[in-house]
Amino acid sequence: MPLPLSSQVDSVLDLAAVVPVVVIAEVSDAVPVARALVGGGLRGVEVTLRTPAALEAIRAIAEEVPEAVVGAGTVITPGQVAAAVAAEARFLVSPGWTEGLLAAMRGCGVPFLPGVSTASEVVALLERGVREMKFFPAQAAGGTAYLRSLAGPLPQARFCPTGGIGPGNAAEYLALPNVGCVGGSWMVPADAVAAGDWARIEALARAAAGLRGPASAQV
Ligand code: 3PG
Repeated sequence: MPLPLSSQVDSVLDLAAVVPVVVIAEVSDAVPVARALVGGGLRGVEVTLRTPAALEAIRAIAEEVPEAVVGAGTVITPGQVAAAVAAEARFLVSPGWTEGLLAAMRGCGVPFLPGVSTASEVVALLERGVREMKFFPAQAAGGTAYLRSLAGPLPQARFCPTGGIGPGNAAEYLALPNVGCVGGSWMVPADAVAAGDWARIEALARAAAGLRGPASAQV
């Protein structure tokens, strides 16, 4: 079913400064986790397709937490593109890309972030008309120094760095001119989910949502 215009997402990078990356093992955890994240001020929720429960979790959040904008992460095959969109994912994120995956993402009707970690991959995506990408694994691939270096020759590319980002370094990423948002799992600790500690997740989300204030956005 097509989304109402007001709830469509044009760009993953403009959705929110911080996008929580969520692994859901039990479908019953999906809605309370999403409510806690939204309650803390994070409306974009990336559910990774790493568990058998992931697609059902995306559908549950889409149907029961309308304030959230739920997407699918770890999308690595064309089949997963179709399955995620069928489950009402409103954006797609991948740690990498291939021609086949890119073709499927282009045709799926929702915004997407293919993943890169080298300058050549960025150039290849720009050549194909894609300017918004995930930078993964961000810390291991060179962190803020690497992204800052890319901004000189490739200023048209914009990134969502993910992988090794947390409260201690997220602001440094967000201050870069070629970073639209950061992703990370730090606000959804596995032990908090296992314990049903939704208040802890909401508090972590609230702290994360406050990471980019007007001052740092001007850097
Ligand atoms: C991802 O799925 O994008 C990353 O694995 C999340 O990385 P983090 O757990 O280091 O935040």
